[in-house]
Amino acid sequence: MDAQSVNFGNWIRIRIVLTFLLAGLVLIGLSAVIPVPLIRFLLWIAAGVMLAMTAYLTYVYYQFSEQGGGVQRRLWTLVIDHLHWDHHGQALDIGTGNGPLAILLAAKYPDAQVTGIDYWGQAWEYSQQVCVQNATAMGVAQRTRFQKASASKLPFEDGAFDAAISHFVFHEVADAPDKRAVIREALRVIRKGGAFSFQDMFLDKEIYGDMDTLLAAIRSWGIDEVRFVETSTILNLPRLLRHPRVLGKAGLIYGRK
Ligand SMILES: C[S@@+](CC[C@H](N)C(=O)[O-])C[C@H]1O[C@@H](n2cnc3c(N)ncnc32)[C@H](O)[C@@H]1O
Repeated sequence: MDAQSVNFGNWIRIRIVLTFLLAGLVLIGLSAVIPVPLIRFLLWIAAGVMLAMTAYLTYVYYQFSEQGGGVQRRLWTLVIDHLHWDHHGQALDIGTGNGPLAILLAAKYPDAQVTGIDYWGQAWEYSQQVCVQNATAMGVAQRTRFQKASASKLPFEDGAFDAAISHFVFHEVADAPDKRAVIREALRVIRKGGAFSFQDMFLDKEIYGDMDTLLAAIRSWGIDEVRFVETSTILNLPRLLRHPRVLGKAGLIYGRK
């Protein structure tokens, strides 16, 4: 295997794009057999919305992909670049998906041992098996391991890792009603002085509240150094990707415990 055969996946799930497409086509089909003009008109509007969503998601898929805009790769690189760690020892990638962050971190730092955890549920098109295949293809299988676990309750002792990273996961953790608790759980498993770099929709106030309050809470958990930067201020993102439901509320929280 080689780096060409790596499959890091795409955050836009193909089945969701296909569902919008199918819904649009079904609505068009229905409108052709319904004789009432008002209902037919409404079906056409609904079909237009579905097909517009299909087009938008296809565009985002393309921008995210390695063969297209390569945005996912640039976002992962941003997380790794903000991890101010001496690159020796154990790192944890929380919600690893198909393992991109864990594998890219291990590939960049030959002295790093990286663990990736995920619950690999049905909601996403990722798997533990693909993580292992990707690590093998990238030549880092000896220094990476992948384990099934939930981000809400990590199966590790306090301070077990020298560093932690995570990308677009915390807001997804369904069994944690308060997503700030997931950040706290991630920080729990880093040793004192260890580094962290997390990217998520941290500017979504409905999820995380006010940023200053969040940073103050993180400091109160015994974190010596914590910083925030808004993703769109340091990465040149296509305008259509800056929608609040895509990357418009993305940011990085990083620092040292
Ligand atoms: C947007 S994907 C990001 C995957 C990967 N970090 C990346 O950047 O490609 C969100 C990931 O969070 C994982 N996830 C969601 N809830 C989780 C939980 N409670 N524990 C662990 N992983 C979870 C999903 O399985 C999925 O892999």
